[in-house]
Amino acid sequence: MQQEASKLRVETGVPGIKGYPLVGNLPQFQRQPLATLIKAAREGGDVTRIDLGRERYYLLSHPEHVRHVLQENYKNYVKGYGKVRVLLGNGLVLSEGSFWRRQRRLMQPAFHRRRLAGFAEAMTDETARMLDGWEARAAGGEPLDAALEMTLLTQRIIVRTMFGSDVGEEGERIARAFETALSGIDARFVIPLWMTRLPLPVNRRFEKALVTIDEAVHRIIRERRRAGREGGDDLLGMLMEARDEETGETMSDQQIRDEVTTIYLAGHETTAVTLAWAWYLLSKSPEVARGVREEVSRVLGERTPGIEDVPNLTYTRMVIDETLRLYPAAWMVSRIAVEEDEIGGYPIPAGQGLFLSPYVTHRRPELWPNPEGFDPERFALESGGERPRFAYFPFGGGPRQCIGNNFALVEATLVIAMVMQRYRLDLMSGQTVKANPRGTLRPRPGVWMMPHSTTSNGTI
Ligand code: HEM
Repeated sequence: MQQEASKLRVETGVPGIKGYPLVGNLPQFQRQPLATLIKAAREGGDVTRIDLGRERYYLLSHPEHVRHVLQENYKNYVKGYGKVRVLLGNGLVLSEGSFWRRQRRLMQPAFHRRRLAGFAEAMTDETARMLDGWEARAAGGEPLDAALEMTLLTQRIIVRTMFGSDVGEEGERIARAFETALSGIDARFVIPLWMTRLPLPVNRRFEKALVTIDEAVHRIIRERRRAGREGGDDLLGMLMEARDEETGETMSDQQIRDEVTTIYLAGHETTAVTLAWAWYLLSKSPEVARGVREEVSRVLGERTPGIEDVPNLTYTRMVIDETLRLYPAAWMVSRIAVEEDEIGGYPIPAGQGLFLSPYVTHRRPELWPNPEGFDPERFALESGGERPRFAYFPFGGGPRQCIGNNFALVEATLVIAMVMQRYRLDLMSGQTVKANPRGTLRPRPGVWMMPHSTTSNGTI
C-alpha cells in the first residue's frame, strides 16, 4: 500500500505555474519552496499542479479540499514519507490501515490530559535548568541562539518524559545518537538509494547511531521487564503496558522501539521550531510581548507554573496559535491517492501525490485578512467563529491528527511563561531570519538573542 512519490503524468486539466522543460517547477521549488507554493496557489487556484522532475503533485489549499482528504475521505489517502521509514519503522507516523488504528488506540491514553500533568513537571524542571544556565550569559552580555536552546530543551524534555529517570547521564548520549540519525536522514533525501549502502562515513555514522538507539531502547525495556516494572508514569512504561482492549495484545519490543523513535522525532523538533519562531515574533512585537509578560505576572507571579495554570494563560496560548499560523513547523503534509477521486471538479487519478500545506492555507487572504501580520487577537475566543475548521491545521486533522498536540501546546505555554518570568529576549540587530523549509520549518541561520534578566531589578 505504501507508495513512493507520485510519478503520474495523467492529463487532468489541473492548472499549473510556468516551469521548465523536463524538470518542471523543480528549480524554483528547490530554491524557494514556500514562495513557489504560495505563487502556485495564487495563480493556479484551489487545485494546482506542481511538477518536480518526473514527479507531479497537486497542491490543495482550500479548507474544504483539505477536509476532504484529511477527514471525509481519509481512507483513500496514504502517507508518502518512505525515506524516513529506515529510522521510524512502522511507528505511528508511518503505519497505515488496521495496524495504525490498533496502535493509535493503544497509544492514545498515554497522551490524555491526566497523563500530561506528570509530563508537565519534567517540562518545568528542564526549563528551570535551562534558565539557570542563561544567568551567566545575561550577566556577561553574551547572546544565545534561541533556536538551538529550544531544540536542546525540547530534546531533554522528550527524553525525560519517554524514559523517566532511567536514562540519567545516558540521556545525552541517546539524544546525540538521535540527532546523528536525523542528520543522516536529511542527507538521504539528496542522495540516491544505492549510495546509502556504500561504506561512506555519513552512512557509517548513521548506522552506528541506529545501533546506539536500538541497543539503548531494547536494554531499558529488558531491565524494566527483569525488575517487573513494565508500567510506570513515563511514555515508555505506558507503551510497555498498553493492552488492546479487544484482543488483550501488547506491543512487540520492535514495535515499542519504532514508537519510541517516532515520538522522539515527531515530539521535539516541531515544538522547538514553534518556540524559536515565537521568540522571534515576540521580539518584533513589543506590545504583544508586554501583553504576555503581564498575563504571566498576573496569573503566576513568581511561582513555577503547573498544568492547572495552562488554561488561564489564554493570551500566551493565542500567541502560540498565531505563531503556528505564520510558521507551522509541519509546513507540508503529503498524501497519495489509493483509488481515483474527485476534488474541486478535477479528477484525482489513483496514485496521485497531493500536497496540503498549512503554510499556504494559513496565508489565504480571504480567510486571514492581513495574512503576513502577526496578530494573536485573531485567536481570541470571540473572533474566528466564521472560519472553516480546516482554514487552520498546524496539527493536521481528521483521524490522523497529531497525537501530541496537547503535549506540544502545554509544553510551549509552560516554556514561554517561565522564560518571561525571568528574562527579556532581544533580537540581535542586523540579523535576517528566514524560514528554511526542510523536515520542519526552521528559522535560518537561527535566532540570535540577548537575554536580559528581569528578576534582579524587576524591569519588564
Ligand atoms: C508544535 C508541535 C507539533 C506540530 C506542529 C505537529 C504537527 C503534526 C502534524 C501536522 C501531524 C500530521 C501529519 C500527517 O497527517 O501527515 C502530526 C502527527 C503526529 N505527531 Fe505531531 N506535531 C507537534 C508535536 C508533537 C508532539 C509533541 C508529539 C509527541 C510527543 C507528536 C507526535 C505525533 C505523532 C505520533 C503523529 C502521527 C499521528 C498518527 O498518524 O496517528 N507531535 N503532527
